[in-house]
Amino acid sequence: MSVIASAPGKVILFGEHAVVYGRSAIAVPVMQVRATASIEPSPPGSGLTVVASDLKKRISLSSAAEDEPLTAAARLTLEHLAVPIPDVTITIRSTIPIASGLGSGAAVSAALVRALASFSGSPLSAEEVSALVFEVEKIHHGTPSGIDNTVIAHEQPVYFVRKQSAKKVRLNVGAPFTLLIADTGKSSPTRRVVGRVRQAWRRQKARYEVLFDQIGDVVDEARRAMEAGDIRELGSLMDENHELLIELGVSSSKLDELVDAAHFAGALGAKLSGAGQGGNMIALVEESFANEVMEELKEAGATRVICTRVQQQG
Ligand code: PMV
Repeated sequence: MSVIASAPGKVILFGEHAVVYGRSAIAVPVMQVRATASIEPSPPGSGLTVVASDLKKRISLSSAAEDEPLTAAARLTLEHLAVPIPDVTITIRSTIPIASGLGSGAAVSAALVRALASFSGSPLSAEEVSALVFEVEKIHHGTPSGIDNTVIAHEQPVYFVRKQSAKKVRLNVGAPFTLLIADTGKSSPTRRVVGRVRQAWRRQKARYEVLFDQIGDVVDEARRAMEAGDIRELGSLMDENHELLIELGVSSSKLDELVDAAHFAGALGAKLSGAGQGGNMIALVEESFANEVMEELKEAGATRVICTRVQQQG
C-alpha cells in the first residue's frame, strides 16, 4: 500500500528575527508551492530509504548521520509512534524554492512525518507534526523560533510567540488580501543570517533589544489591522517592518531594489521576508494592480514571482 502526504510553503509577514528573541511574529501558508512525500513498500529487510532527487540525495536510515535532516524526520517520527523501522522507500518532491525563506526544509519534514505516520496507521495531529518538525528544524537552523513548523503544520495564518501553544495563536483574517512573493535569486541560508544577527546582538545588546521591541510593536499593530481587515494599514506596517530589518542589518541592495520597485508600481507595502540578505521579499497589492507590480518586480530582476491570496482557512 502506498501513501502520499504533503505540506505547503510559508512566508513570514511580520516579525522575523525578533521572534527568535521572544517577540511575536505573523506568518501565513503559501498553498501554491508544496512538498510531497510518497511512501512505497520495499523488499523485506531493505530498511528505510529516503530519496530526494531534487537534492540528488539517496539516504538509508541505517547508515545516515544523526544530523541528516531527512532521515532525522523519519527516525523521530518512528520513535514518537513507537513502531519498528518499516521496509520502505520515501520519495520527496518539492516545488518550494530552497533557502529562500519559503519554509522548504520544514515543509519537506512535515510531508515526510505525515506520510510515515499515515503509513504506520497512526495519523498525527497538526500539533504533533509541528513538534516533530521543530526537532528537525533545530538541525537546519540551530536556534529556530518554531514559527515555520507551526504555520506549515497548521496550514493557517498564525500569530506566533515562541513557546506559546499553536492553538492560542490562530489568527483571523478580517478581509482577504493579495501578496506577491518575489525571489532575489540569491539563496540565503537561515542559519548563517541568524548567526550574524546573534553576533551583532552580543556586541550591541541594548540597541538590538530596542529594535526587537519596535518590531514586536509593529507585529501587534499588524495583528489588529489584519483582524480588522485594514489592508492599507497592513501595507504601511510592512514598510515600517522593512526599515527596522534594514537597521538590523539583514536586508541587501537587491531586496531594497525589489521593495522600491514594488512601491513604484503601486504596492500598498513591501518588505523582505524570512532571514534576509537574499531570499524573498513580499509586496501587498490590490488585486487589480497585481500584474503590474509583478511585471515591475521581474523588470527589477526578480527571478520568480508567486502571487498568493491570504484568507481565513477553515
Ligand atoms: O523564513 P526563514 O525560513 O528564512 O526563517 C527565518 C525566520 C527567522 O526569524 C529569521 C528565524 C526563525 O527561526 O524564526
